[in-house]
Amino acid sequence: MDRIDNILNNQTFKKCINRINEAEKDRKFCLHNIEHSIDVARIAYIISLQNNLSVEKDVIYATALLHDIGRAEEYDNGISHHEASAIIAKEILAGSGFDEAEMQMICDAIKKHKCGQAQVNTLGDLLYKADKLSRACYSCKVYEECYWDESKKNKTLQI
Ligand SMILES: [Fe+2]
Ligand SMILES: [Fe+2]
Repeated sequence: MDRIDNILNNQTFKKCINRINEAEKDRKFCLHNIEHSIDVARIAYIISLQNNLSVEKDVIYATALLHDIGRAEEYDNGISHHEASAIIAKEILAGSGFDEAEMQMICDAIKKHKCGQAQVNTLGDLLYKADKLSRACYSCKVYEECYWDESKKNKTLQI
């Protein structure tokens, strides 16, 4: 997947991942590192197959890899990471071989990943669902302290 390699080798991408890792080094709650993004990518791809969604595999992976890329902007400057990630993602996607329509679709999904539909129809719904499912609340040490609404927590591992 050449375009995914381009993202992983992109200097802005690397810089953002390092900033997130630094900002979260003492965080006890869920992290927003590259492992989280890859978990989201794999889950999203599985859900896309289950729902017969016709979205390119590397578009799904690109969306997942970039969905939290602006997280450090939220920590450092108080900018919502949904907005910040979409802005940073656009620059990275443009340098990684994605066309205008793909960039639009990916950035739109990233911007809206705070909320989605139970029914998966769009790339945004797919991202939202995979993002939430990626968290292992059922084995979390700080379950009680977590700010996530009780109804959103994954109490079991869905298979
Ligand atoms: Fe997020
Ligand atoms: Fe996330």
